[in-house]
Amino acid sequence: MAKEVVLSGIRPTGFLHLGNYFGAMRNYVRMQDEYNCYFFVANWHSLTTHPDTKELQTAVHRVIAENIACGLDPEKVALYVQSDVPEIAELYLYLNMLAYKGELEKTTTFKDKARLQPDNINAGLLTYPVLQAADILIHRAVKVPVGKDQEQHLEMARNFAQRFNHRYGDVLPEPQAFNYGGELVKILSLDGNGKMSKSENQLNTLYLADTDDLLRKKIMKAKTDQGPETPNSPKPDYIQNLFTLMRLVSTPDAAQKFEDDFNASSTGNCIIRYGDMKKQLAEDMVTFITPIREKALAIQADKILLSHIIKHGAEKARESASATLTAVRNAIGVNY
Ligand code: ADP
Ligand code: TRP
Repeated sequence: MAKEVVLSGIRPTGFLHLGNYFGAMRNYVRMQDEYNCYFFVANWHSLTTHPDTKELQTAVHRVIAENIACGLDPEKVALYVQSDVPEIAELYLYLNMLAYKGELEKTTTFKDKARLQPDNINAGLLTYPVLQAADILIHRAVKVPVGKDQEQHLEMARNFAQRFNHRYGDVLPEPQAFNYGGELVKILSLDGNGKMSKSENQLNTLYLADTDDLLRKKIMKAKTDQGPETPNSPKPDYIQNLFTLMRLVSTPDAAQKFEDDFNASSTGNCIIRYGDMKKQLAEDMVTFITPIREKALAIQADKILLSHIIKHGAEKARESASATLTAVRNAIGVNY
């Protein structure tokens, strides 16, 4: 039986961080043996909010290199850059005729971004979900690993596929959001204010590109408090986040030790030492991130290798994309 098609995209709008790793990339790596995977850098999408392209090429290269450093194998998956696949732009054009202004204006991400950039509410921003639908439908992907904030875009992709099929015949399958195990880890920023993010609150986000010293510094400054007042207290979000990180990068024994210390602490008898916990976490984080950072830097420095990987990815993606586009053109009747 043919493997199901999995697809996801990541915008090159900043540095990848631990939230991206545990919330997205680690899942991609698990999927690569079981599914027919397409992963791409959504550089056209980034132009809707980041028209200045000075950093764009470096950012695209870094996302590709970091994905490989995290374990994606460009031989197993199609790893490509969106703008290398012109078939996506043509499908976007057809889908635009099936998307209504009213529904696009009602999209949550559109309203949020329009509020953030009132002087640049461009048509690309409005039709962002149409381009995203084209990204997905061009490979007839059925499973899309994304976070909760993308559910509405996926629903729109299903609507556009349905409308297309209804009008022109059954060509495009309806994609669904998909994640392993169902439960998604969310990594909060180290001051407990919101989640780690590509471009906001950088001093409280751990980036895959951070140096050892910077990682240590950020973790040692992470928000803590006096410790629990009664044994087995509930943990505040920012403390829970440190435990979550420890469970992800430290040995089970180390994580358990601090868990036990926390649960045995009370006012006047505080066994947990957050300073020690952060020191342990910092060292384990350095051990975890250093090989990823070094591998990513080595790939980024090797422009020939990078360009080979990107070309190879584009070829794989275009093969699948052009097959879908032929079916789409035939269905519409634009085949002369
Ligand atoms: P950012 O918010 O940093 O710009 P994106 O929105 O581009 O990141 O998200 C890319 C992927 O990483 C998505 O699948 C998203 O769910 C995941 N992700 C982003 N931030 C986090 C986080 N702090 N914790 C867990 N997953 C995250
Ligand atoms: N909109 C997604 C985000 O902000 C990125 C993206 C673009 C994407 N095209 C996609 C994700 C196709 C999944 C499938 O994270």
